[in-house]
Amino acid sequence: MTLRWSCLWLVGCTAAPLSGAPQLLSEEIKWVNPAEAEDLNPEEGAVRIELEAATQIYVIDGVDVSGYAYNRQNPGPTIRLQRGDHLEVELTNTLDVETTIHWHGLHVPYEMDGVTWTQDPIAPGETFTYAFTVNQVGTYWYHPHFDTERQVDLGLYGLIIVEDPAAPEPDHEVNIVFDAWGEWQPGDVHDHQSHIDNWTLNGLLSPSLAVDEGDVVHMRLLNASNVGYLDLSGAFEQIGSDQGWLPTPQSPASLVLTPGDRAELSWSVGADALQLTHQPYALHGGPTYGASQTLFSFEVSPNGAGKTHLEWPTLGLPQSPDSLQVDLTYVFQGDDSSGTWMINGEIFPEVTVEQLALDSTATIELRNISAAEHPFHLHGHAFEVLSVNDVVPTYTRIEDTINLKIRDRIRIRLLADNPGYWMTHCHILPHAHGGMMTVLQVGDTP
Ligand code: C2O
Ligand code: CU
Repeated sequence: MTLRWSCLWLVGCTAAPLSGAPQLLSEEIKWVNPAEAEDLNPEEGAVRIELEAATQIYVIDGVDVSGYAYNRQNPGPTIRLQRGDHLEVELTNTLDVETTIHWHGLHVPYEMDGVTWTQDPIAPGETFTYAFTVNQVGTYWYHPHFDTERQVDLGLYGLIIVEDPAAPEPDHEVNIVFDAWGEWQPGDVHDHQSHIDNWTLNGLLSPSLAVDEGDVVHMRLLNASNVGYLDLSGAFEQIGSDQGWLPTPQSPASLVLTPGDRAELSWSVGADALQLTHQPYALHGGPTYGASQTLFSFEVSPNGAGKTHLEWPTLGLPQSPDSLQVDLTYVFQGDDSSGTWMINGEIFPEVTVEQLALDSTATIELRNISAAEHPFHLHGHAFEVLSVNDVVPTYTRIEDTINLKIRDRIRIRLLADNPGYWMTHCHILPHAHGGMMTVLQVGDTP
């Protein structure tokens, strides 16, 4: 099979970029979860959903601006599944450009991965049905993987929630898609992040939710921004990350959520209010100057109930030792002034396709020798973090997206159990567009 390398990521387009923050909802609505997709298949264990990718008018600072949406909503419909469900998504493309859907974090067969060397992107007016079985639990997302930088910024993305029957019922489920608007410029390979000051949460600016003392709030977070890092803090516990539950709940001083990252939080409401705050973060050097911003606030009605504790499921997977051996190295290099971004000195699509035997276990070393941070993402698989600059994590850490700070050297353990050609790239979309992508082949797929 010939790999079709050209036009994999971006096609030329003359549409004006979005800027500012959209006002998607009426001002009386303080908080609302993204509406969920309707399951059109009555059978148990099977879910069928119809999505339409179409142009959408957003009102930004009082001005009508043309963007994109799935099923006329932003974020797109949340797809809710039970572990083991067979999912079918019929995508109708009524845009005037080609598109695809990638299922970020799910271990799908590679023909369903939404990248364009196994199938052409879906042409305007065409319909394609994605179909696969989901055997994971946790928080995932979907977005185009063609013309990605532009289409994601214009509003094409949605959450996937795979429920765990062992999870307790919280009093409030809060599903948040963070985004910054107007990040894409035509032909952009620069990561102008400086200070994104218009973070929206499901299209809302600084929402709030009323809760009662004694309630438990379960939050699922997704950072769908092209470039912006979130550095969050608050009195929450982290109970899950990219690939489902953590082995034990964590109370991090701050939680950095890179583009593409997910996290699950639990907050037991006491007499004090919780604010989800964000500290300015520069991808050219981490936490930076500037005032922190309140992104979400919870207003508590005190009733003397005291905190309730819920037992969340935990990941029962032993931690692998860092063997210090390296089977494959990915070096991240490039600079913003030239907008040239590379993995192992190569600019996508002129890349070496590395190969791993099916069902082999490999240690991959990731090294960042550039002056910017990079969220590394690998398709079709999850990996275990063995060490970050030789420091072994304090718990079994399973991810599909991990941040490389400047000068970081991270070793990950990959069980190469999903045959196919898998994209590996930086999830800062202008870096990916600037060449920071490569392909990993698993097994002997022709
Ligand atoms: Cu979220 Cu290659 O993508
Ligand atoms: Cu990058």
